[in-house]
Amino acid sequence: MRHTTLAPHFVQLHHPAAGASHPELVAGLLETPARIAPKFFYDALGSRLFDAITELPEYYPTRTEAAVFAQHGADMARHVPEGAVMVDLGAGSCAKAARLFPVLQPAAYLPVDISVDYLRDTLAALQQRHPELPMLGLGMDFSARLSLGPAAGAWLAERALAEQPRLVFYPGSSIGNFTPDEALALLCQAHAVCRSGGAGGGLLIGVDRVKPRAVLEPAYDDALGVTAAFNRNLLLHVNRLLGADFAPAAWRHVGLYNAVESRIEMHLQATGAQTVRWPGGERAFADGERLHTENSYKWEPGAFEALLREAGFGEVRHWTDAQGWFSVFWAPA
Ligand code: AVJ
Repeated sequence: MRHTTLAPHFVQLHHPAAGASHPELVAGLLETPARIAPKFFYDALGSRLFDAITELPEYYPTRTEAAVFAQHGADMARHVPEGAVMVDLGAGSCAKAARLFPVLQPAAYLPVDISVDYLRDTLAALQQRHPELPMLGLGMDFSARLSLGPAAGAWLAERALAEQPRLVFYPGSSIGNFTPDEALALLCQAHAVCRSGGAGGGLLIGVDRVKPRAVLEPAYDDALGVTAAFNRNLLLHVNRLLGADFAPAAWRHVGLYNAVESRIEMHLQATGAQTVRWPGGERAFADGERLHTENSYKWEPGAFEALLREAGFGEVRHWTDAQGWFSVFWAPA
């Protein structure tokens, strides 16, 4: 009988330190309008609240993308290289990648997520279900810079996987959190990762499309208030990180579509004048003043294809659902 180690390997490159100075976070809080980057949504509770969002009737992206994979997965597999090292960006629960294991048949699985503890837990459970598939979790903030790093390189080399093609998997339209300029920079880095292994590598990426406001806005302002809780939970996370004293109940959730910028915007709006304090600083908010917490860009397929080409990818193809709401692109490196 064959014995395998069931504990997945894990490399933690991101260390969320409570009470640290977090200059980026503080700088955003002091701007006008104030802003907090959406990566701060994902503490352990935030990751779970996001998973709850994906179950909401109004939140169409997750199930629409799942339908695209279910319907076209076999066709995608004809383009994706066999025996790839599957790098899953913002893996979260790892559920989307796991569903594709039987179709895409990766040789190794490398989920990357900023939510270190959450990824550690979900990956441990996933390794139990797939004892034969080598897995390496990477606790990392790739929004600043994406690169697998020497530890992952050594791990792959030890398993004779260094020359396997790289499949970068970036589902869920998380690319929408980035402005077009930032998205281009990230796609260039993803291209470099795809090129770092054997021939045939590429990017499989989910992108949410422009659609009527009447569909978009409820998806980001649901009747149960789960998205509102997800948005406000950011304040609890920031309180912990900075030692700040945000009162989540004093903030109203705002989710609206900005058609000019082609993006959903989420804000928290102060219900009453208040001053938020943390060691070394403070910020006064007027009644009704907004704190910008997220952009979620919606793309036309042609524009997104042009972006992929600009990032260095080759002949792009994409698959969509019956309503043309969501597209999955395959971009060979
Ligand atoms: C994880 C960035 C894809 O933009 O739809 C869901 C995050 N924010 N509801 C999105 C989110 C509010 C989500 N992404």
